[in-house]
Amino acid sequence: MNTPRKIEHQQTDRGYVPVYATGVVEQPWASYSRSEHAVWDTLFQRQRDLLRGRACQEFLDGVERFGLGDGGIPKFAELNTVLGAATGWQVVAVEGLLPDEVFFDHLANRRFPVSWWIRKPDQLDYLSEPDLFHDLFGHVPLLLNPVFADYMQAYGRGGMKAFKIGPEALMNLTRLYWYTVEFGLIRTPAGMRIYGAGIVSSKGESVYSLDSPSPNRIGFDIERVMNTRYRIDTYQQTYFVIENFEQLFDATRPDFTPIYARLRQSPAHAAGDVLDGDRVFTRGDRAGWATDADS
Ligand code: PHE
Ligand code: FE
Repeated sequence: MNTPRKIEHQQTDRGYVPVYATGVVEQPWASYSRSEHAVWDTLFQRQRDLLRGRACQEFLDGVERFGLGDGGIPKFAELNTVLGAATGWQVVAVEGLLPDEVFFDHLANRRFPVSWWIRKPDQLDYLSEPDLFHDLFGHVPLLLNPVFADYMQAYGRGGMKAFKIGPEALMNLTRLYWYTVEFGLIRTPAGMRIYGAGIVSSKGESVYSLDSPSPNRIGFDIERVMNTRYRIDTYQQTYFVIENFEQLFDATRPDFTPIYARLRQSPAHAAGDVLDGDRVFTRGDRAGWATDADS
């Protein structure tokens, strides 16, 4: 890992900690309370039980290989030994969401930023910003998969490029992240499975995404996804389904510049739209959908 440049110190409720230009801090592992470790254990056991037969095998294997259920909040340094040896990725601790270009720079250098703090015991089912459980349990297991690991790095590089092109391009790319990395489903011989981090870290959506008749489940298509708005405040109205991680990686290999140019000319689809060209696995019955506009 590149050594982050230290820029300043910051007073936090964990004391005086160095903050780097990259947003990276030391994971304050010794300061986690008993109740914080218990929150991890509770969330972990709940999701591990729920995700058998729901999450894809690559994800479940990753969870076991890291020993995420060994008890208490994992030490990033220990995870990094396993992760570095497997795919060359590293987990770095951060305070929270990072500016886009900083986030992309981390991914492009095979560093995955993880919020060091964990939600409170009364926020087990929902919180509005990503915490350690979402970032670590949701995102990190798949970084052991070589194809997915390469996809994430390529995404980081693509992010830098989109950032320079402009806000519309960045929005198109963000939708891709949303509908794959955060809320992706995958077809397997055993049936449809979850790989998105936003789903696997949520008890409610782990069930809803696969079992509910409400959302659409539509075959992954790169331009379709990049042109589809999404909801940040409710479960998804549409999930996009990949065949395997190679398909995802291959679809994102071409230069996106012409795609960005094309998409500027065509209006975005609403989150719940079903289009003529879609490969529809299930058409949602739209029950309970919010009627206000999506983002
Ligand atoms: N191929 C994309 C581009 O040219 C980069 C990218 C790769 C984006 C992987 C997302 C995922 O911009
Ligand atoms: Fe996330």
